[in-house]
Amino acid sequence: MCGIIGYVGPRDSVPILLSGLSRLAYRGYDSAGIAVCHEGDIDCRRAHGKLENLIERLKHDPMRGRTGIGHTRWATHGRPSESNAHPQRFGKFAIVHNGIIENFLDLREELRAHGHEFVSETDTEIVAHLISDCYDATHDFAGAVRMALRRVRGSYAIVALCSDFPDELVAARNQCPLLVAVGEGENFAASDLAAVLAHSRQAIFLEDGDIAQIRASSVVITDLSGEHVERKIQSIEWDISAAEKQGYPHYMLKEIHEQPQKITDTFRGRMLEAEGEVNLDENIEKLHLETCRRLQIVACGTSYHAALLGKYLIEQYARIPVDVDVASEYRYRQPIITPDDGFIAISQSGETADTYACLKLARQHGAKILAICNVMDSSIPRAADATFYTRADPEIGVASTKAFTTQLASLTLLAIHFARRKNAIDVATAQRLLRALRAVPQQMERVLEQSDHVRACAQKLLRANSFLFLGRNLHYPIALEGALKLKEITYIHAEAYPSGEMKHGPIALIDDRLPVIVIAPKNPTYEKTLSNLQEVKARGGRIIGIVTQDDDRLTRVCESAFPIEDCEEIVQPFLSVLYLQLLAYHLADLLGNDIDQPRNLAKSVTVE
Ligand code: G6P
Repeated sequence: MCGIIGYVGPRDSVPILLSGLSRLAYRGYDSAGIAVCHEGDIDCRRAHGKLENLIERLKHDPMRGRTGIGHTRWATHGRPSESNAHPQRFGKFAIVHNGIIENFLDLREELRAHGHEFVSETDTEIVAHLISDCYDATHDFAGAVRMALRRVRGSYAIVALCSDFPDELVAARNQCPLLVAVGEGENFAASDLAAVLAHSRQAIFLEDGDIAQIRASSVVITDLSGEHVERKIQSIEWDISAAEKQGYPHYMLKEIHEQPQKITDTFRGRMLEAEGEVNLDENIEKLHLETCRRLQIVACGTSYHAALLGKYLIEQYARIPVDVDVASEYRYRQPIITPDDGFIAISQSGETADTYACLKLARQHGAKILAICNVMDSSIPRAADATFYTRADPEIGVASTKAFTTQLASLTLLAIHFARRKNAIDVATAQRLLRALRAVPQQMERVLEQSDHVRACAQKLLRANSFLFLGRNLHYPIALEGALKLKEITYIHAEAYPSGEMKHGPIALIDDRLPVIVIAPKNPTYEKTLSNLQEVKARGGRIIGIVTQDDDRLTRVCESAFPIEDCEEIVQPFLSVLYLQLLAYHLADLLGNDIDQPRNLAKSVTVE
């Protein structure tokens, strides 16, 4: 995820910006840059790759200045490269930006029509041009930023420099974190406390719509219309390592809690509820995967579980046959691939060797190839015809959480998109599904509030040395994912079965030492699952259920029950998986395991 730091004060800003950026590196990035105001102009240095490249560049080509901004970029619009790195400059302005400008294509066309030319592929550069145009009319720095941002739709944390105002930063926030850290005769802007804690422990957390005019000895905050707003200065007590994890003890827990925001980000600009349509990138549209004879999805690990869910969703709504394979199996089983097939590779990292090899195989046979990926411009998107980017930001915990739910969000949108293109569902159904999905982030927040309840349950399960996960239909892949999470970080054996298959073998294992985790919210297979559970109960099994709120019938059968709201079936997996992530997390934590780096596992598997 991108990181921002800004400084205004009596000191040379360059070392402050660089040390701030090094504190933000844990978030993941692919390029970095800084800009300073110096002698009536703006100096800027940027570099692709690691921060060391930027430091090396500055050694050969040093610069200094008392007001400056810095950025670590994690590509969303435009490849990772020096020209796409921030700060982005135009005229008297340099800006750094986190977030996504939704209407950037419209704004770019409009600016082009007025003679603007662009040197990067970023949405950020558009904002720099827009601010510059507004400034020409007003010669008011903060006023120009306000005027420009009134035209912008989307999410942003922005900090801007203007060469006419060498003692001032202007910072703006909408749906992306941004704070002002208040020092003695100096002030800072940052996207993350970690960047500034070495200098100040007094922070103003900006709110959506805030524009801050930051000078060395003053901070003035207004809304987008210029009305003054009051924000409190808060004292911060975190140490620096806690700040990197934003107060969470582990990255995994932080990433679990980030999911509502990341789902919002993945949906942003792609859901047109009023029209009952999904708005995809032109490159994806042009593939017309909905016309394929069959879709083949290939992935590994957690991404494979998302792929299985994708099959249920695409077949159910779009009525296109879908095959799903584990990549390491697919590549060696001489699969049948024809140019009439669509091939979808799912990978968080975009670098998994087996998935990449399958993609190349599909390419040789002429299939149309879509990647669903989190890391921009990694190997898999580069080799695909088009990529649907999940917007989970870097995932640091080895056990995947937010990458999974954003993959799920992506597949859900693709399923609705294909379904509409094929007329397999009508507009009203698509509108209903999209409206239900829009509510997912808030519903996820409410599930995450149950974390303590899950921990209490985990406490009672500490002595178990095996778990069985059961689910049907959409919840079978979730059961598989729950069992995988548990194995990965608790090192306790777990396996998942389709609930209806339990009687064909695993039922022999049932006794009071085998906790059975069942995902059984109200949906068309609910009654069937309930009968399966009676079979478990009759054999003295311990049942932990994920159930629809107020479902007394099922709750009575369970030792512990975790509620999800009564909602559309398509929404249920987003909620049920959170309980399973939390259960694995709390069990592993109570066992004292290394949660973010579990033994023997790697985040990205680039070997066969
Ligand atoms: C490793 C990771 C898993 C991940 C899998 C596939 O095993 O530990 O969390 O699901 O690779 O990775 P990908 O980046 O292709 O999604």
